[in-house]
Amino acid sequence: MDIKIMSGLLCLLWLCLSLNQSTAALALPYNFNSTELMKCSYGERGSLTATCVNANASYFKMTPYRFDQLDETLVCSSCNLKTLESGTFDISGNQIKNLQLSYSKIELLKQKAFVGLIFLKNLNMSHNSITSVYPGTFTGVKKIESIDLSYNNITVLSDDGFLELINLKELNLAYNSIKTISSKAFNGLGNLVLLNLERNNITEVSDVLSKLINLQVLNLRDNQILKLQGSEFTNLLSLLLLDLSFNKLDTPVIEFYPNNSLKSLYITNNYIRSPSLGFLNGLHNLETLDLSYNTIVEIQKATLLGLYHLRFLNISYNRITTFQTGVFTGLPYLELLNMSHNAISYGEITGVFSLHSLFALDLSHNKIPRLDYEALISRLPRLSYLRLEGNPLPCDLEEEMNTYFEADNFKFVLHDPYNNTKSCVLEPTKHSEKVIKETVPELDENRSAGMSGGEVAAVILLCLAYLCLGLLFYVQYRTFRESRNQGPHRATSSVNLISAEDGRPGDEYLRE
Ligand SMILES: *[C@@H]1O[C@H](CO)[C@@H](O)[C@H](O)[C@H]1NC(C)=O
Ligand SMILES: *[C@@H]1O[C@H](CO)[C@@H](O)[C@H](O)[C@H]1NC(C)=O
Ligand SMILES: *[C@@H]1O[C@H](CO)[C@@H](O)[C@H](O)[C@H]1NC(C)=O
Ligand SMILES: *[C@@H]1O[C@H](CO)[C@@H](O)[C@H](O)[C@H]1NC(C)=O
Ligand SMILES: *[C@@H]1O[C@H](CO)[C@@H](O)[C@H](O)[C@H]1NC(C)=O
Ligand SMILES: *[C@@H]1O[C@H](CO)[C@@H](O)[C@H](O)[C@H]1NC(C)=O
Ligand SMILES: *[C@@H]1O[C@H](CO)[C@@H](O)[C@H](O)[C@H]1NC(C)=O
Ligand SMILES: *[C@@H]1O[C@H](CO)[C@@H](O)[C@H](O)[C@H]1NC(C)=O
Ligand SMILES: *[C@@H]1O[C@H](CO)[C@@H](O)[C@H](O)[C@H]1NC(C)=O
Ligand SMILES: *[C@@H]1O[C@H](CO)[C@@H](O)[C@H](O)[C@H]1NC(C)=O
Repeated sequence: MDIKIMSGLLCLLWLCLSLNQSTAALALPYNFNSTELMKCSYGERGSLTATCVNANASYFKMTPYRFDQLDETLVCSSCNLKTLESGTFDISGNQIKNLQLSYSKIELLKQKAFVGLIFLKNLNMSHNSITSVYPGTFTGVKKIESIDLSYNNITVLSDDGFLELINLKELNLAYNSIKTISSKAFNGLGNLVLLNLERNNITEVSDVLSKLINLQVLNLRDNQILKLQGSEFTNLLSLLLLDLSFNKLDTPVIEFYPNNSLKSLYITNNYIRSPSLGFLNGLHNLETLDLSYNTIVEIQKATLLGLYHLRFLNISYNRITTFQTGVFTGLPYLELLNMSHNAISYGEITGVFSLHSLFALDLSHNKIPRLDYEALISRLPRLSYLRLEGNPLPCDLEEEMNTYFEADNFKFVLHDPYNNTKSCVLEPTKHSEKVIKETVPELDENRSAGMSGGEVAAVILLCLAYLCLGLLFYVQYRTFRESRNQGPHRATSSVNLISAEDGRPGDEYLRE
C-alpha cells in the first residue's frame, strides 16, 4: 500500500514538473508561430472576406494572394504593423470596403497611409498604439464612412487630421488619452453623425464642435470637463443625444437655439448641487433627462420649465429632501419620475394641474415615514407603478394599500424584492385610528392662508385665463375638478403627502 501511495505521489510530482516544462517548451514554437508564416487567404466560400495572419506592413503588397472583387473585407489577424507607410494598401485591383486592423500593433500612421483603397467605407483600427492623427493621413480615401480609433494612445487631436473625410458618419475616439482638441481638429466632418469621445482626458470643449452641423450623437462620457460656457453645442441643431456623464460639472449651462432637436441628455455622475435655473433652456424636444448621481438638493420648477416633451426624468441618487408634485406639473408628458435614493422626508401636493401622464414613480430608498397614497393617486391619475421600498414606512401600510388597491391594476413595491427581510417601522399609535375610506382631502388652513404672493397671482391669472378661453379650458378644469371633487378655490392648496413620524399637528395627512 505504502509503495503505491509513494509511487502515486512521485507520479504526481513528475506530472507537475513535466507540465511546467511543457508550458516552457510550448512558449518557443508559439512565438515562432506568430512571427512566421505571414499569409493572406480567402475565408469560407461566399464570406467575401480575406484574412491576413501575422502580416507586417509591407506584406500586403508582397503577398501572392490576389485581391479581387470577392474581397470586400480584409481582416488582419495577429498582425504586427507598427508603421503604416504611404500606400501600404495600394494593392492593384482591390475593392476592399472594410478594413479590420484592430489589435495590429499600429503605432504610426504616415501621410496617405490608406491611399489606393478607393472603395474603403469602414476602417477599424481599435486597440492599437496610435498616438496622433496627422493631416494627410486619409488623403485619397474619400468614401470612408466609419472610423474606429478607440483604445489607442491619442493625446492630441491636431488641426485637419480628418479633413478629407467628407463622407465620414461615425468617428470613434473613445478610450484614448485625448486632452487637447485643436480648434480645427474636426474640420471637414460636416457629415459626421456620431462622435464618440468617451473616456478621454478632455477638460474643455470650447467651440471645436461648432462645424459638426449634422451630428446626432455626441458622447463625452467619462472625461474631465469642469465647465461649460453654454455655447459649445449651440450650432448642433441635429443633435439628438448628448452624454456628459462622469465629468466634473457643477453648474453646467447648455444653450441651444430654439430649433434644436435634442431628445436625450445624460449628466449623471457629475457634481451638480444646485442646478442653475436656466441650464436646460430651450430644450423643447427633450424626452429623457438623467441627472442621477449628482448632489442636487433641490429641483425647482423653473429648472424644468420649457421641457415640454419630457417623458423620462431620473434624479435618483441625489440629496433631495422634498417631493412636491407641483414642480413637475409643467411636464404634461412625463411618464416616469425616478427619485429613488434621495433624502426625501417631506412631500406635498402643490400646483394646480395633475401629472396627467405619470405612469411610474420611484420614491424608493428615501426617508419617507408615512405616505398619503390616496392624495397622491388623486393627483396622479395614470399612476400604476409606485416604488417605495427602503423607506421607514409603517408596517401596516402594506395591508392598507393591498385593501385599498385590491380592485385596481396598480403595482406598488414596499419591500426590496431581492431582500428577504422586510423592513418597516412598527407604529401602533395614531395610525391604527386611520380608517381607509373614500375621503376628500381637507384643506389645511395654515397653508392656504400662507399662500405666497406668486401663488395668489397665479390663481388670478388662471381665473382670467379660464374666463377668456372658455369651453376649451373648461373641459380640463372639469376633469381636474372631478378628480379632486372640490371647488376651484382649493386649486392651489397644498396637501402633504408625507408626514413626520410623530404626527405633530401641522403634519397633516388626510383626515375624515
Ligand atoms: C501554429 O500555427 C498553426 C496554424 O495557425 C496552428 O495550427 C498551431 O497550433 C500553431 N502552433 C502553436 C504551437 O501555437
Ligand atoms: C516584413 O517582413 C519581411 C519578411 O520577414 C521583411 O523582409 C520586411 O522587411 C518586413 N517589413 C517590415 C516593414 O517590417
Ligand atoms: C472594431 O473592432 C473591435 C475589435 O474587434 C470591435 O470590438 C469593434 O466593434 C469594431 N468596431 C466597429 C465600428 O465595428
Ligand atoms: C498606450 O496606453 C496604454 C494604456 O494607457 C499603455 O499601457 C501603453 O504602454 C501605451 N502605449 C504606448 C506605445 O504609449
Ligand atoms: C488623465 O490625466 C491625468 C492627469 O492629468 C492622468 O493621471 C490620467 O492617467 C490621464 N488619463 C488618461 C486616460 O489618459
Ligand atoms: C435655427 O435658429 C437659428 C437661430 O435662431 C438660425 O440661425 C438657424 O437658421 C435656424 N436653423 C433652422 C434649420 O431653422
Ligand atoms: C435612471 O432611471 C431610468 C429609468 O428609471 C433608468 O432607465 C436609467 O438607467 C437610470 N439611470 C442610471 C444612471 O441608473
Ligand atoms: C431608478 O433609477 C435607479 C438607478 O438610479 C434604477 O436602479 C431603478 O430601477 C430606477 N427605477 C425605475 C422605476 O426605473
Ligand atoms: C436587507 O434589508 C435589511 C433591512 O433594511 C438591511 O439591513 C440589509 O442590508 C439588506 N440586505 C441586502 C442584501 O440588501
Ligand atoms: C396653524 O398655525 C397656528 C399658529 O402658527 C398653530 O398654532 C396651529 O397649530 C396651526 N394649525 C394647523 C392645523 O397646523
